[in-house]
This record gives sequence, C-alpha cells and structure tokens, in this order.
Amino acid sequence: MTSDKNFPATGPLSDPGEGSLLIRNVRPYGEGEARNVLVQDGVIASLDAAEDTSADREIDGKGRVLLPGLVDMHVHLREPGNEEAETIESGSRAAARGGFTAVFTMANNTPVTDEPTLAEAIWNKGQKVGLCDVHAVGAITRGLEGEHITEFSMMKQSDAAVRMFSDDGKCVQNAALMRRAAEYARGVDVLLAQHAQEGTLTAKSVAHEGPVASELGLEGWPRAAEESIVARDILIARDYGARIHFCHISTAGSVELLRWAKSQGIKVTAEVTPHHLLLTDERLRTYDAVNRVNPPLREQSDVDALREALLDGTIQAVATDHAPHADEFKACEFEHANPGMLGLETSLAIIADTFVKSGKADWRFVAKVMSEQPAEITQLPGHGRPIAEGEPANLTLVDEDCTWTAKAEDVESPANNLPFEGMEFHTRVAATILRGKVTFNEQ
Ligand code: DOR
Ligand code: ZN
Repeated sequence: MTSDKNFPATGPLSDPGEGSLLIRNVRPYGEGEARNVLVQDGVIASLDAAEDTSADREIDGKGRVLLPGLVDMHVHLREPGNEEAETIESGSRAAARGGFTAVFTMANNTPVTDEPTLAEAIWNKGQKVGLCDVHAVGAITRGLEGEHITEFSMMKQSDAAVRMFSDDGKCVQNAALMRRAAEYARGVDVLLAQHAQEGTLTAKSVAHEGPVASELGLEGWPRAAEESIVARDILIARDYGARIHFCHISTAGSVELLRWAKSQGIKVTAEVTPHHLLLTDERLRTYDAVNRVNPPLREQSDVDALREALLDGTIQAVATDHAPHADEFKACEFEHANPGMLGLETSLAIIADTFVKSGKADWRFVAKVMSEQPAEITQLPGHGRPIAEGEPANLTLVDEDCTWTAKAEDVESPANNLPFEGMEFHTRVAATILRGKVTFNEQ
C-alpha cells in the first residue's frame, strides 16, 4: 500500500509521450515572434527548432500563445461515489479541454478520501486515463466529520503523494482541532486548504446576505461567516507556522484580511474562482439553481476587490471549484438544490477575457495565477515550470482571437450545471500537452 520512498521529488509519472512532437509557430507567453517548439520524450528539447525539422507528430500553432500547462488546485471529480455527475475519466477530459495538465480533486467523495488506499485509487485511475495528473486531496478529518484528524503522514508517503488536505465542502469549525491540524501539517510539511464558512452564521444560508436575497426571500450567507474563519486561521498560521490556504475567497473583507496577513509575513495563500470573478448575486433573480454555489455569488464591490487582489498578488491562484451535480440536484427549487458549478472548460476563457483582453494584464499573469503559483502553493513538481529547454513538456496552446459560446450540451461532464450557458468568449484552449502527449487538440 504505502511505498518506502520519500515524498517523490519529481512526482510519479504517467507514460510520457514517447518520440517527438513539433509545435510549429507558437509564441511562448504571447511574446515575440512565433517559434517552433520541439518536444522529445516528454521534455522540451528546443524552443527554436528549424523549419525543416521533422517529428513523429506535429501541431500547427498558427501563431498562437503557448502557456505552461494549467494547474487547478480545486476540483471535484466525484469518483468514487457520484459517477453520474462526473468520473475521473470525464473530469480528465474536461480538464484537458480546459488546458489543465494537473488538477487536485477534493476529498468529499463517497467514501471520503481519508485513507492512503483511497487516495492511491484516485491517483492510479487518473494515471490510467492518462489525460491529466489527478492528485487526490486528503481529508483533514475522518469522514469530513470535523472530529478526528486523518493520517497526513501516511497519505503523504503513499503512492498518491498527498500534499494537500482539506475538508472542502465543509469548514473545519473547531478552532482547537484546526490548531492541532496546523501543528501536524507543519510537522509533515503539507498544505491545509480551508473552506471558510462559520457554521452558526450559515445554518440555512443559500444566497449572499444582501438586498437581492432579501428581495427574493432567500436565506442569507453573511460575509462575516467567511471572514471570521479567514481571520481565525490567519492567526493559527501565524502562531503554529503551518501553510494554510483559503479556498474560493469571495468577499472584499477577506481580501483585506489577506492583505494584512501578507503585511505581517504570515504564510497564508488564497484562491479565487472564475465565477466569483465574473458573476454577482444579480443572477439569482431568475431563481435558477445553476447559480447556487458555496460560497455564494456576491456583489459587484466584492467582484472588483477580488479582481484587484488577483492582480496585485494578494490572491495567488485561480481555481475552478469545478463542482458537477446531476440534473436532479439542480432542476429543483433554489433552496433545495446542491451548491456548485462546472468550471474546468471555461476557466481560461474567463480569466483571459477578463484580464488580458481588457488590457489589465498580460499572458505572464495568466501563467502565474493559473499554472506557476498553484503548482508552487501545492509544491507540485513538473508543473507550472518555465517554458524552457530541459523542462517537462506540460503546455497549453491558446487561441486568443476567436468567438465561441459556452453551452452545457458541449461539456465533457455528464452534469450540465454550467452557469456560463450562452455567454460569449473570445479566448479558448486550442491544445493541451501532458509530458509531450497531446491530451486535447481542437484541430
Ligand atoms: O459550491 C460548492 N460545491 N462549494 C463547495 O465547497 C463544495 C462543492 C461541491 O462539492 O459540490
Ligand atoms: Zn470545492
């Protein structure tokens, strides 16, 4: 079950794309003249291959942007236990189409990922599918019940090399337990990812607490429920030295707290989802349960603060919180629907359109928040690396000049809960390469 190796330095590898791949006419990070990138046995061999180079396979890059393969540190692939919503295979296809070469799937499966063998089953299945590295996130508490801390060390040493622990979907409510988890996490050098949601303030909450929820008669989820846990865990990180990461930050107040933490040199990190960067609670007026998500869609002032925080580095990562749900759990009253949204296939388009197309940032920024920093926070080897000779060929080719409409019927997931239905985007993933193997190619 467990291996006697130490935490692997390079990460277990699925079969690298054998032979050679020539990606013609691409602009790494969207900079400079188009070049030909040659990949040999899964590694970048040259960034300036001659025109007459031949290779086993070729992709015509058409002058497009080449980024390091995207890394999503927060998805729910629902296997085992809820395969009608998603499987590791369908989720891997969605990830590859979305430009991802590595994803971290949360522990809220059935059974919960709280044992080394369960984490290994997920990792091995992902490697067998071979479209994306699917890393298992381990639960912080057994069964996500908030009572007993799991064996971080055993899961880290397993073949799954679990490096992140989270009760996501649920918050670790008990402060003393979070403190003990932080001490343990520090000792074995793993990341704790907190779903910040104070329970007594959100017992029946279904929507952001504000004027829209009042008007619609929906039970409110106050910002303070998130911010009080963020504040608490920043202090726990300060006093016990653990690496604590905050999942799906959604409020302007959380951003202020993270800024303060940074100013104090406290080791916390945070992610934001594409939906919290794009949508507000105004969407709830249709009562369509596709807009129910946890934490809820908030107000424009929060969206503005989140965008600013991602731009200035207060928030380091974009993560989708891709949360597929079968139709029966969404085609019902808003209050009874499961929270969660699909996100893997639209993430790059939303981030690129919001930040690059609008002129607020460049492609280096996208590489940073969607690849380099998620890999750094999770201490993931082989991903989020520079596009340079000798580096693993984990790459994403981006078409920055197109128009397409997001449709639930087009997604890879069996689920249909796509809140971006009917929205038009102007950027899309053209191809994805995992260690030299083409895992998605629109051509
Ligand atoms: O909206 C959400 N859905 N938020 C979470 O934290 C969990 C997720 C899920 O598992 O469906
Ligand atoms: Zn989640």
